[in-house]
Parts: sequence; structure tokens; C-alpha cells
Amino acid sequence: EGELCLSRSLVNSSDKIIRKTGSSIFQHSVEDWKINSSLVLEIRKNILRFLDAERDVSVVKSSFKPGDVIHYVLDRRRTLNISHDLHSLLPEVSPMKNRRFKTCAVVGNSGILLDSECGKEIDSHNFVIRCNLAPVVEFAADVGTKSDFITMNPSVVQRAFGGFRNESDREKFVHRLSMLNDSVLWIPAFMVKGGEKHVEWVNALILKNKLKVRTAYPSLRLIHAVRGYWLTNKVPIKRPSTGLLMYTLATRFCDEIHLYGFWPFPKDLNGKAVKYHYYDDLKYRYFSNASPHRMPLEFKTLNVLHNRGALKLTTGKCV
Ligand code: CTP
Repeated sequence: EGELCLSRSLVNSSDKIIRKTGSSIFQHSVEDWKINSSLVLEIRKNILRFLDAERDVSVVKSSFKPGDVIHYVLDRRRTLNISHDLHSLLPEVSPMKNRRFKTCAVVGNSGILLDSECGKEIDSHNFVIRCNLAPVVEFAADVGTKSDFITMNPSVVQRAFGGFRNESDREKFVHRLSMLNDSVLWIPAFMVKGGEKHVEWVNALILKNKLKVRTAYPSLRLIHAVRGYWLTNKVPIKRPSTGLLMYTLATRFCDEIHLYGFWPFPKDLNGKAVKYHYYDDLKYRYFSNASPHRMPLEFKTLNVLHNRGALKLTTGKCV
């Protein structure tokens, strides 16, 4: 009871099917989609057995003191020191405490959003979650601008802000954060070693410029708990992507979850090329072993959930 009923063989062969047939098996209807509220409640209840998003969305100040040494979640041999800056930016209480919404949007970063004209629809949701500090202003017609919760992998500093080498990179970053106002900025700082310098720079800029963003740093158990939930439902995902993490968290706060920008395939259903990201020229990596994610498998799962009315997946035009 309560399982997603994805049979083991179906899931195991999915990557092969995707490679063979491209994305054509993922046709799904948006017109006659209807929410299945009892399934939504059941999924929330089941996910709550693994994690409580209200708590696991961020560690809080009382969890650490400056100078504490912690082990990286996915790299247990390496350690990180909790700096004064980091400690001062930890929230006193969960930034998601007691927050509930009728409808939420989780916006992935696929190029499928280009020309979608989904901006208005995305912004009409009560709570909008975005990933990796993706730019919005230049793409507002397709992606909207409302950003209540936005994630930022430490690698974004290098990828989108020149590693803060120049003053202009830092200014661009501060400007981007200042547009967020008091939205939640979610930084997975404890996952893997490599980004600690970047996280420190980000923290220092937030403090120096007295930015109002509400910083959050996911708990040490979040990723294991999310993986555990999906594994129990026969979806073997070692490293859930940011987008899947956000959907999983959102089930706690949102009655109706709408996904946009999820399309991890280089072509659309008509064979037209689709960029990996709507805003840059990053190439597809997940068919190689270079990427830790299994986005096509995740997509297949989300598609099943769409067809069962647990969430709504939009991959076409909104108007
Ligand atoms: N996504 C997608 N299809 C794409 C690109 C992204 O479905 N072509 C979804 C994924 O769920 C992804 C989310 O949108 O997690 C945000 O995109 P991105 O910033 O690329 O996410 P990351 O998970 O950080 O990916 P990576 O670790 O490869 O940077």
C-alpha cells in the first residue's frame, strides 16, 4: 500500500528504453489532468516516514557552534569547519516552519522552457521554487520571475559568476541576490568537498551587503532520507537531482505541485533540439558516466506520478 507501483523491471530497463527510443514514450496529456488529492496525501504521509521537510530543509543555529567539525555527507572522510560567518547565517528556526500552500511550482532548468510562454502561469502559483540561481529577468515570459525559494549548488559561483574573480562578477551576484529579497536561498554546503571556498565567499558577500535573503543549508540526513524514500518505491536513485529533491520537499508544504522545466532529453517530442539549460550552453552529461544523476529515470518516475494525478508536469506551451 502506498507504493508508486513502478515495477522493478520497468524501472531497471528504463534507461535502455530511453536510449533506444528517445523521449517519445513520455507523451502525457495536460488537458485532462486532474489532481488526485488522496494520492497526494498518501505520498506526503509516506515521505514523512523518511524525512520531515520542515526540519530537514535546513540545519538551524542551535545544531552547531562555530569551530565544529563535520563530515561531508557524500564524502565522509573529508571534513568541514563551521565558520563564524556560516554559523551566523544559519536560521534560528526552519525557514519553512508552518508554511503551507495551495499550489506550488517547482521550476527545473531545462531548455524546454524556451518559447513555452509559461512565465505568467508559473508566477501565479502561491510558492515558486527554482534551482541553481537560474536567471529569470531576461527569460521572464517563459519562466516568470517569482522566486520564493531558490537553490544554489556551490559550483554555481564558478559556473555563472566567474569564480568571483572580478568585482563585476561579485556585483552581478549581489545584484541577483538582492532581487530575491527575503526569499529562501538554499545552499547544499555539506554534500561534497570542493565548494567550501565558494560557500565562504557567498556567506561573506551576504553579510557584507546585508542582503535580506534567508539562507538555508540542508540537513546532513536529507539526501539519504530522500534516496531512501525513492529506493523503497523501487526507484533506485543514488544522487537525486536538485529538481527531484525539491519535489520531494515540496510534498510537505504544497497541496498541488506543478513542475516546469523538467526535460532531460536533447530533443523534444517533435525532434527539435532542446538545450540542457534554458540560460547557458552547458551540454548534456547524464548519458555519460560523468554525471552522478539519473535524470531520465527521475523523469520517467515524475511522468508516472503525473499520469496518476499526484503532480502536474508541463513540458509544452502554457498558452
Ligand atoms: N532538469 C531537467 N532537465 C534538464 C535540466 C534540468 O529535468 N535538461 C531538472 C533536474 O531535476 C535538475 C533541475 O532541473 O536537478 C535543475 O537543473 P540544474 O541546475 O542543471 O540541476 P542540478 O541537479 O544541479 O544538476 P547538476 O548537478 O548536473 O548541475
